[in-house]
Amino acid sequence: MALLYAVALLWVLCVWECARASPTSQMDYGGIPLWIDRFLEEPSVMSLKDRLDPHRYQANNPQSCPRGCFCPVQWPTALYCDQSNLTGVPASLPEDTQYLFLQSNNISSLPPSVLAGARELRWLILDHNRLQGVPLADGALQNHTEMRYLFANHNSLSAVPMGLPAGLRQLRLAHNNISSIGAGTFQGLQNLTVLLLQGNHLQTIEPKGLAGLLNLDLLDMGDNRFKSVPMHLPPSVQQLYLSGNAFSGLGESSFAGLVRLKYLRLSRCGLQDTGVPTQVFNMSTLVELDLSYNRLAVTPTVPTSLQYLYLEANEIQEFKLSSFCRDQGPQSYSRMRILRMDGNKMSYSQLPLDWVYCLRVLHNIFV
Ligand SMILES: *[C@@H]1O[C@H](CO)[C@@H](O)[C@H](O)[C@H]1NC(C)=O
Ligand SMILES: *[C@@H]1O[C@H](CO)[C@@H](O)[C@H](O)[C@H]1NC(C)=O
Ligand SMILES: *[C@@H]1O[C@H](CO)[C@@H](O)[C@H](O)[C@H]1NC(C)=O
Ligand SMILES: *[C@@H]1O[C@H](CO)[C@@H](O)[C@H](O)[C@H]1NC(C)=O
Ligand SMILES: *[C@@H]1O[C@H](CO)[C@@H](O)[C@H](O)[C@H]1NC(C)=O
Ligand SMILES: *[C@@H]1O[C@H](CO)[C@@H](O)[C@H](O)[C@H]1NC(C)=O
Repeated sequence: MALLYAVALLWVLCVWECARASPTSQMDYGGIPLWIDRFLEEPSVMSLKDRLDPHRYQANNPQSCPRGCFCPVQWPTALYCDQSNLTGVPASLPEDTQYLFLQSNNISSLPPSVLAGARELRWLILDHNRLQGVPLADGALQNHTEMRYLFANHNSLSAVPMGLPAGLRQLRLAHNNISSIGAGTFQGLQNLTVLLLQGNHLQTIEPKGLAGLLNLDLLDMGDNRFKSVPMHLPPSVQQLYLSGNAFSGLGESSFAGLVRLKYLRLSRCGLQDTGVPTQVFNMSTLVELDLSYNRLAVTPTVPTSLQYLYLEANEIQEFKLSSFCRDQGPQSYSRMRILRMDGNKMSYSQLPLDWVYCLRVLHNIFV
């Protein structure tokens, strides 16, 4: 069953990906397809490994290509240097390099001088290397005004580099060794929309730690060491992921001020009923709430706007209709579409008789 599901999911992903990023014939100089995102006009693959025969695309590029890298002729500004056992960034990068793929190497340091010549860099991908501490001096990338993506997941960074380029859109630093975020770290990054910090060692965030992130949409701080929901989160956030932190409880106003919050994940946080105040999810913007794998015994109060609620693997014995609907009446009903309650301590027969009047537009319920 799980396999079938996975296959179906892959198929759906493929239909989506393949439709979005079809090989564009006008860029296809040597009969070699290279996936290009038609909307963004940027590469849509992070690696060429196992996709194409290296001898074909490597041989085609007339310009000098650093050792350990592939330089596809269809995309002359991209350097694919992933999975090559490199211990450092290749010296003398071509000046017009825009997309630099260095993931899955053995890179432990990042002298700013090595990137200084490549002023046009848009993507710098450094996932799965051995970067330690704070490998970039403050402001080392300040002159890289074209930089949009900086990924360094799965390294051992101990802090977020300061003075990152103002045009940055995505910063991915998941699974590092980051334990604090200093005031002003993100100052000026007003175009940053995605910030991934899951799998680090964060416990608190200073009041001005996240200041300046005026357009942040997705913030993932799951699997850290927070004991309570961090304060001073950017009000622009629409997707907030905090699963896998051992919260002692939520505060009445833990999410107050997050006026655009739509997707909230609080799975595996050790939450009990007493730690979930009635008002805490009272946000009319909320669409999806994940509270799975906690220790709740009663259904929590959620807004009528909520469409997806995940409560599987808790200890729920009591289904309170007032959790979903406050008043009776033709206009007063829950917008819930999917409600997962499997893996709890109650059965379908324990649902109150009149639940269908409240959960009127429900597509699926799992009990
Ligand atoms: C990388 O190094 C490891 C061990 O030193 C070796 O087994 C592997 O073949 C190397 N991979 C490449 C692509 O050179
Ligand atoms: C990575 O580099 C270190 C030296 O910096 C070396 O000892 C180690 O063998 C390298 N690992 C691989 C897989 O090449
Ligand atoms: C950025 O450019 C300015 C002006 O060209 C230069 O003075 C400065 O040293 C550069 N900074 C870095 C970090 O390369
Ligand atoms: C992670 O940071 C701690 C200090 O906060 C340090 O003792 C430890 O060596 C670091 N681990 C790695 C893998 O860098
Ligand atoms: C942020 O994005 C906007 C819209 O794309 C752009 O006009 C502006 O120049 C960007 N800001 C920076 C600092 O790059
Ligand atoms: C939710 O908050 C609104 C004000 O924003 C308030 O009027 C309403 O009574 C609250 N709902 C619940 C269930 O407490």
